[in-house]
Amino acid sequence: MTSRKLNSIIDDDKKYLFQNYGDRLPVCFVRGEGAYLYDQDDARYIDFFSGIAVTSLGHGFPAFSRRLHAQLDRIIHTSNWFYNREQAAAARLVSGLAFKGRTLFVNSGTEANEAAIKLARKWGQETAPEKFEIISFEGSFHGRTFGGMAATAQEKIRKGFGPMLPGFRYLPFNDVGALEKELAGNPRVCAVITELIQGEGGIRIASRDFAQSIVSLCTKHGALSIIDEVQTGVGRTGTPFVYQQFGIKPSAITLAKGLGGGIPVGALHARDELMRLFEKGSHGTTFGGNHFACAAVEAVMKELMKPALLKKVAEQGKYIMKRVNALKSRIPAIREVRGLGLHIGIELSMPGADIAKKALERGLIINCTADRVIRIMPPLTITRKAIDEGLAIFEKLLAQECARP
Ligand SMILES: Cc1ncc(COP(=O)(O)O)c(C=O)c1O
Repeated sequence: MTSRKLNSIIDDDKKYLFQNYGDRLPVCFVRGEGAYLYDQDDARYIDFFSGIAVTSLGHGFPAFSRRLHAQLDRIIHTSNWFYNREQAAAARLVSGLAFKGRTLFVNSGTEANEAAIKLARKWGQETAPEKFEIISFEGSFHGRTFGGMAATAQEKIRKGFGPMLPGFRYLPFNDVGALEKELAGNPRVCAVITELIQGEGGIRIASRDFAQSIVSLCTKHGALSIIDEVQTGVGRTGTPFVYQQFGIKPSAITLAKGLGGGIPVGALHARDELMRLFEKGSHGTTFGGNHFACAAVEAVMKELMKPALLKKVAEQGKYIMKRVNALKSRIPAIREVRGLGLHIGIELSMPGADIAKKALERGLIINCTADRVIRIMPPLTITRKAIDEGLAIFEKLLAQECARP
């Protein structure tokens, strides 16, 4: 494909697609290899983004690719009217890596949260009809459907789509006192939903005390504790799921993004005793957990079960954070470096969108979130060589941009 072909794609995009993503970055990737992507003119890029933390095994990971090719030739979809070998096997693997529980496969992160919200409402209404309120936290992001949007405590996400689903309350993130007060005084709360690292909110990490208080206070007041692991889950932070680093046992977790390594699939995974709440006919989805999607989950999970991979994720993450932290003395625009594993945010004292754009021009894919936070989320399989290449571009760019008057 050539640049001329790219222009014709851009023309069609502008003419035929909703423009809800605004102006896209002006490249069209045509192939990938590990942590490298190649554009229409065969220019190479280092991928520090993984399609928003999705392609965790990298591009063209051989075992993943082989498994999906074989699955494609054998069977893709039959529906949830029938037993499904891949779905059952994928659920067993999720239980093995998280906690023994029940999994419901869906197609995206927002649908996983939608399922969690429905589960929470059922849970509350077993006790009392008015026990339907769900607490989430300022700066959170839980998706774009009505449940996910209502749980998302960012006005810009909800603007213009009212009225919202009722029954959501927003509290400050990392404020144990505010949560304690709310749960003690409000018997209508049926669940608390939170990320432990706010991804879209700028890689803000929950304190251990906050995470542990959520679970213990929920248990005390008869509410479910739901951890949204859509972005942090499936190895991204150096453990299979980030909640495992906080010493907590939540009622449920929600997953998507890295779960299918690029194949769209999400999941709600909840404690065994909650299974009864979704009785026959209460919830479902046509595509959810089809053979192909669950073959992808199986292939991803099998890699995650290799301790060497997760150990490497933690090491590579520490290495990146150390290198960027070392820049602080030279580049005062770097305010803070935060993260766990390969889920890293670099907070700048200036807007970061332009830096991400310029990085792309130099062959490095990074992302800016929450206006000033550069997000680094490479494939979990990235090599030290690719990290060094990417950091060299990033360090040079930052030094140039931040030196400007
Ligand atoms: C924490 C979190 N929850 C939910 C979602 C929504 O996932 P999806 O875009 O797959 O619907 C996202 C997406 O960025 C997310 O980061």
